[in-house]
Amino acid sequence: MSAAAAAPVWAILPAAGRGRRMGGELPKQYLQLAGRSVLEHSLRAVLAHPQVQGAMVATAADDSLWPGWEAIEGKPVLHCVGGAERADSVAAALMALATHLQGAEFWALVHDAARPCLRLQDLDRLLCACLAAGEGGLLGAPVRDTLKRIEPAALTKGEPARALGTQPREALWRAFTPQLFPASLLAPALAACAGSVATDEAGAMERAGHQPLLVEGREDNLKITTPADLALAEFLLARGSAG
Ligand code: C5P
Repeated sequence: MSAAAAAPVWAILPAAGRGRRMGGELPKQYLQLAGRSVLEHSLRAVLAHPQVQGAMVATAADDSLWPGWEAIEGKPVLHCVGGAERADSVAAALMALATHLQGAEFWALVHDAARPCLRLQDLDRLLCACLAAGEGGLLGAPVRDTLKRIEPAALTKGEPARALGTQPREALWRAFTPQLFPASLLAPALAACAGSVATDEAGAMERAGHQPLLVEGREDNLKITTPADLALAEFLLARGSAG
């Protein structure tokens, strides 16, 4: 999975989700957190790294809340329309960036709009590891809880979840974002997954035969999914800005 380490790094923020698990009317990327939207925190977190040249944000076609940023931290912020699934939004952003960069190769640093607590040190470790190896990779962390297998059909029938077995966890990691891949490899990998939903870029790359590098990151790089996550993120951001 090699690419010229010298190719520029551009951030992609898929922000076209509705965030239904949050409840409420406002998509979660636009919820307010310590005076800024969740999206703005996530965007600033990736643009803060000196190697990141700029960002492409993919929003829903009917998004009326996009603030129209053109630059943040002195770096260009570009905007495109996302798609029905996260992978469609990332594919649309890759295409829009390829047009903007006139077909030149670049590294795509994909970061969920709903992960506002990314630390600069983690981003730096991911970039250093991948660019030094000339390979794509992602932030993640080993699974620490005991894992129970259930019958998902029971939940959809409104029955209680029951533990049917215990899954060995030694070989399992949780996948976070950012995820960094050469755009020229990620675009065809996502296209090849069309129709079968890829929940992250690494999954599409694995199916294309690659073995992305897993770089251990902080577990507090949480994805805002439920209302409780928002309160936790607020606490983490306040503590982070205090060092
Ligand atoms: O729904 P989930 O939490 O997995 O979404 C992860 C990220 O993907 C969010 O930032 C969300 O806005 C984005 N997304 C997207 N396009 C979709 C669905 C989700 O950009 N169609």
